Amino acid sequence: MTQPRPIRFLHRGQPVQVPASRPTRTVLQWLREDARATGTKEGCAEGDCGACTVLVAELDEVPHTANPTRAVRAHGVLVRPVNACIRFLPTLDGKALLTVEDLAVGEALHPAQTALIEHHGTQCGFCTPGFVMTLAAIHERHALERASAPEPSRAALGDALAGNLCRCTGYRPILDAAQAMLTDATPRLPLAGVREQLLALHAQAQAEAPPIGHTDYHAPRSLAELAALRLARPDARLLAGGTDVGLWVTKQLRDIGELIWLGDVPELRHLGLNATGDALEIGAGVTLEDAWAVLVSHWPALADMARRFAGPPVRHAGTLVGNLANGSPIGDAAPVLMALDATLQLRRGEALRTLALADFYLGYMHNALQPGEFVQSVSVPLATAREVGWHVAAFKISKRQDCDISAVSAGLAVRVEAGTVREARLAFGGMAATVRRAAAAEAALVGQPWCEASALRAAAALPQDFTPMTDLRASHTHRQRVAGALLHKLWLTHPAAGAALGHPLASLATVTPA
Ligand SMILES: Cc1cc2nc3c(=O)[nH]c(=O)nc-3n(C[C@H](O)[C@H](O)[C@H](O)COP(=O)(O)OP(=O)(O)OC[C@H]3O[C@@H](n4cnc5c(N)ncnc54)[C@H](O)[C@@H]3O)c2cc1C
Ligand code: FES
Ligand code: FES
Repeated sequence: MTQPRPIRFLHRGQPVQVPASRPTRTVLQWLREDARATGTKEGCAEGDCGACTVLVAELDEVPHTANPTRAVRAHGVLVRPVNACIRFLPTLDGKALLTVEDLAVGEALHPAQTALIEHHGTQCGFCTPGFVMTLAAIHERHALERASAPEPSRAALGDALAGNLCRCTGYRPILDAAQAMLTDATPRLPLAGVREQLLALHAQAQAEAPPIGHTDYHAPRSLAELAALRLARPDARLLAGGTDVGLWVTKQLRDIGELIWLGDVPELRHLGLNATGDALEIGAGVTLEDAWAVLVSHWPALADMARRFAGPPVRHAGTLVGNLANGSPIGDAAPVLMALDATLQLRRGEALRTLALADFYLGYMHNALQPGEFVQSVSVPLATAREVGWHVAAFKISKRQDCDISAVSAGLAVRVEAGTVREARLAFGGMAATVRRAAAAEAALVGQPWCEASALRAAAALPQDFTPMTDLRASHTHRQRVAGALLHKLWLTHPAAGAALGHPLASLATVTPA
């Protein structure tokens, strides 16, 4: 058997080689235990606290117009904040890792570090390196885009820090520091020359076979290579952002067997309109952060859901397709995309087929993928954004505002013509073993006048669709009641012309992007 080649990436600005070992060893374990770079901390080991936030830079290979991104884009690389605790080390191959140790230039601290000190934004300091890294990414983006984008508001900074928890300082001084650091608007990340170093690593990797050396870890570099590999290894686990899979290792201590990493397949990163311009195509490698940003640009009513879906480091690593493929009954993207009538492009070898998302889930964590098949992309028709008469809403009910798992989530779309509901797609998560549409509630609505009584009748039909369970997040009764209340809220926030004016919730009818 061919000897595996080492993993190669940049750390502290220099190429490092790490002998191939257990592919689920995390970046955080390597940093703290092997590299002895202990500035990066471990709090939760599940992507929730942000103490382990690092920046990962990779080659920016897709033309800008073809791929809008919310990553920092500079010097020919893309930089994203991610959680080192759930990121598997081999996925760094060919990339650059930046940690809190990389920010100071000699004695001069990064503006984020200076501002945290000056504004008393740290006490025990355990969370501080994570905050510093997220702030450094925010600072860089602002410094690069300040000519074309306004300075982030305090609220926007709060959202951008939603993936970082502090348990002793409190967020007021941290937000003060975040605002203060923006007054120094010079790009500061050490990115000059990184592209050339990464190109050299890639050239070295190309010259070797196999492209990445592991018997139980594969990193295909093209769609064709991925399709062939998937066909040959139908039992291997696909790894996209690893924000679900990572926790199976760090929390459930599972042996997840052979892995196929999707992150190096450029074709999967496509994000844009389809050939006919009537649907949005989102490849299986597109991050949640980028996908939600484009979805919100077409459907502003999704802004709250996008903002409350995990925190930025998880959204910069995880993919939208990973969320759909994982098939959790409480996943937040599936109800929304079902309401928007999304379809999946499934690939098995050379064969492509299209399946409605609504038909994808067959049972609890069980989907319609055949052996050797994978999701190549998701396609979201733009009709509900462009045609007159559509009312679209997305609601997430959870105990915390930020970074929490939903008890119930809903994606709702109704088309009203001349005062009558012509179409309705009402999809719910947290109500059954899979995310699915509410057939009885939809039937109760279609053909009826768009009025409060119709919305309440649809809500009353929901028990025919769902018998939700009681668990630690919510009781059966709460889920039933809240799902009905969300249908009522759809009416209250999108009333028929002239109706329900003056109702307190009516002002929510126009939701603007954050
Ligand atoms: C702190 C934290 C907060 C979170 N908050 C939320 C939240 O608010 N709402 C929510 O819904 N989820 C949340 N999640 C869950 C997770 O982030 C999402 O489900 C994410 O979209 C998963 O994508 P991924 O790329 O990381 O998938 P991975 O973890 O890489 O994969 C997930 C599953 O999908 C499969 N898969 C991936 N890509 C494909 C493909 N192309 N074809 C076939 N199968 C594939 C994998 O084999 C695996 O079974 C959170 C997770 C964390 C850690
Ligand atoms: S240690 Fe908490 S997010 Fe990584
Ligand atoms: S300073 Fe102690 S947890 Fe934030």
